[in-house]
Amino acid sequence: MNTFLVLVIFAQAMTLSLAGFKELYSQYAADCKTQLNANEEDSVALGSFEIPKNEAQSCLVDCLYNKLGLIVDGKLSEQAHKNISVAIAGNDKEKLAKMDDVFQKCMKEVPQGADQKCTVGKALRACVVKYAPEVQKMKYKPTS
Ligand SMILES: *[C@@H]1O[C@H](CO)[C@@H](O)[C@H](O)[C@H]1NC(C)=O
Repeated sequence: MNTFLVLVIFAQAMTLSLAGFKELYSQYAADCKTQLNANEEDSVALGSFEIPKNEAQSCLVDCLYNKLGLIVDGKLSEQAHKNISVAIAGNDKEKLAKMDDVFQKCMKEVPQGADQKCTVGKALRACVVKYAPEVQKMKYKPTS
């Protein structure tokens, strides 16, 4: 096999599919639940777009978004969001544009910084819900 072919296959393998994303999401959600020793009631925040109602839920969401790479050192990652958008929306240009537009607004609005303990994830979720309330209908339920 030549180098070019190897590179092409490698690049394809790195693009996240929806199934792959859901698998990762479920794995990370389970990891965060264990790591933070969360109860069932608070863990609901991992499988929905509810805005966290207490610190335990905020820290679960923050943990999940850190594992997904959406938050790195307290800052939102545009590249990680792009990757996740492609996994979720595929070739749906309209949906991709909407997701990008919402994320751009939220990158400006969400207070960020490594000193923000468990608040960046909550603020990101609240911001996304503000601009795209339809996300609240999405349910992964990775914890059930
Ligand atoms: C986004 O995906 C590309 C390849 O598809 C990968 O190289 C990159 O590390 C990913 N970035 C993040 C932040 O997830």
